[in-house]
Amino acid sequence: MTTSGSNHRWPRVPGIAFGGDYNPEQWPEDIWAEDIALMGEAGVSMVTVGVFSWALLEPRQGSYDFGWLDRVMDLLAAHQIGVDLATATASPPPWFSHRYPESLPVTREGHRLWQGGRQAYCPSSTAYRTASTALAGALATRYGTHPALVMWHVNNEYGCHTSECFCDVSAVAFRRWLRERYGDLGRLNEAWGTTFWSQRYSDWEEVIPPRLTPTWGNPTQNLDWKRFCSDELRACYIAERDVLRAITPDLPITTNFMGAFKPVDYFSWAPEEDIVSDDHYILGADPANHIRLSMSADLMRSLGGGNPWILMEQSTSAVNWQPRNLAKAPGQLKRNSLQHVARGADAVCFFQWRASRRGAEKFHSGMLPHAGTDTKVWREVAALGADLKSLAEVAGSRVDCDVAIVWDWPAWWAVELDSHPSVDVRYLDLVRATYEAFWHLDVTVDFVRPDADLSAYKIVAVPSLYLVSDEGAANLTRFVEAGGHLVCNFFSGIVDPNDAVRLGGYPGAFRQLLGVRVEEFYPLLEDQTVTLADGATGRVWTELLTPAGAQVVTTYVDGPLPGSPAITRRGVGTGVAYYVTTFLDAAGTRRLLHGICDAAAVATRSNQNDVRAPIINVDGIETAGIETAGIETAGIETIRRRAEGASYLFVINHTDREVDVPAAGVELLSGTPATGSVHVAAGGVAVVREADAATAPHHTAVG
Ligand code: GLA
Repeated sequence: MTTSGSNHRWPRVPGIAFGGDYNPEQWPEDIWAEDIALMGEAGVSMVTVGVFSWALLEPRQGSYDFGWLDRVMDLLAAHQIGVDLATATASPPPWFSHRYPESLPVTREGHRLWQGGRQAYCPSSTAYRTASTALAGALATRYGTHPALVMWHVNNEYGCHTSECFCDVSAVAFRRWLRERYGDLGRLNEAWGTTFWSQRYSDWEEVIPPRLTPTWGNPTQNLDWKRFCSDELRACYIAERDVLRAITPDLPITTNFMGAFKPVDYFSWAPEEDIVSDDHYILGADPANHIRLSMSADLMRSLGGGNPWILMEQSTSAVNWQPRNLAKAPGQLKRNSLQHVARGADAVCFFQWRASRRGAEKFHSGMLPHAGTDTKVWREVAALGADLKSLAEVAGSRVDCDVAIVWDWPAWWAVELDSHPSVDVRYLDLVRATYEAFWHLDVTVDFVRPDADLSAYKIVAVPSLYLVSDEGAANLTRFVEAGGHLVCNFFSGIVDPNDAVRLGGYPGAFRQLLGVRVEEFYPLLEDQTVTLADGATGRVWTELLTPAGAQVVTTYVDGPLPGSPAITRRGVGTGVAYYVTTFLDAAGTRRLLHGICDAAAVATRSNQNDVRAPIINVDGIETAGIETAGIETAGIETIRRRAEGASYLFVINHTDREVDVPAAGVELLSGTPATGSVHVAAGGVAVVREADAATAPHHTAVG
């Protein structure tokens, strides 16, 4: 388990917190009493208030109207519902952009974006920084000691709509950031390789954001721009956080993340928070959306160093922003929610409490739908509240695992820069394929940076880590030397942090560790596949490799390089390093990782061959058929959370079959004993407090 992360602090809310965004300002006050009564009925214990209320709280600059919020806070306090109070700075009001038009963001193409939607501010705007910190301070001063207040919610989804701004104010800020990074212009010229195409700078004033250019812009300028944009948004967060911390030093502070969100390097943000929190919305049309959900949850746990985290937003049913907004099937709300809990969330919250009547999100589901309480959604919400109460004792326990996948935002940014060997190398594709293979093997993983402490892991997977520092590469090498199993994918180790190619043959930084030398890439056509001697297929990529100490595991039988090595393996110290030179199909990936799990003594699902019939995901989507080579998914997740002297086994059944899973103890959702096995209905969930925590295996085979 990673140890990096925050000074973890949890809000004073008992058990697993339950609730959502509460926007009472959208409703007449006489409805608030009904809200509170229904919150009581559903077991709501924490609500996020005020996310988009800047225009109401500060109708004119410096003039505050807290009356309505006072009444909301008092009402919630009187009913023991904790408030995660937003600083309300996510969307500046019209008066702000009217008064400070230069604060409106500008696109790469030079178009200014206007108010009328939300998040219309330039992250480098001084006016915005001043006004947002003033509002945060005013809220902290007024509510800092209010009994309802349990934590701070800074802004909302930083970068969601405006992650970068190319205006002149941003240009000045970018130059400042670059001066801090490079000190002098000579170093910047060197790092950016500006001898190429006559790009050499002779004065700082000449340096600008990577605005629209006639052809490909400087790659390192673009990479630094991504770093700058993430840092600039983080500076907005830190500015508000520091104001809050000075006034309310004991209250936890968070800002809500968005899972695998490319523009923001959450590994660099998480240590600035007391608690990691996340918004996760499934894509209705994605048959693997439950696997994506698990991946996002594992990422959140990893960002917080393994500490419990908050699921700040999800939907009870449909959203409004997908092309076709699918309603959730019965039972999906519970499964999705408990998947998050299984993977370390100690709070389950939704956007939003009451579905809006007006505005762009009026067809987004809420905990309380337009149709009221005689609805599937409301009944499932109330049932979930009761379920979470029965899981109260799980709060604070931790998920442990012995496999990690390397995840690195700068490597993601860099590998997707333009003018590369193939447009088909997309970072998340590889990460997801690796994650999915482990998911189907029922192996829980953490995500780690390349330079993280890896001593707790038996296996580390490195999906296309195009950019890596010397320290990161050395760290991964030490992991293998000390007995670890590492599996590395193509187009890794290619460049240093300035995007300069590492010479002498690919995969640069990993050439020695992997015992290979690659002289040329042979990317494939868009729909082309190649066959490997072991029967697997590959797509996207092949490369001309000569072993230099590694053994050949399998070769290509066709494609541009028949007979050439496709997968290699090298023993290093007491560990093993594998190299995979193509984007393996799902079955091939799973078979390879299964073998590595066996070799590394990582337990996997033991019945891969038991389930032969097609499996219909309970949401009506057929998931079998993606399997070949005799390896099939059972579509059932088992995860363990552990605490001192206690162990909780979560079983989540995504299939249309009921299953019995070996377990002994008490099933907490039903309160019934599990003697030898626990029965899990089709699409159902079981959580067993295991009788003997000390001897509970790390992994439970599904029978
Ligand atoms: C995000 C925002 C919310 C809301 C939801 C809708 O998560 O934070 O304010 O817009 O999306 O899905």
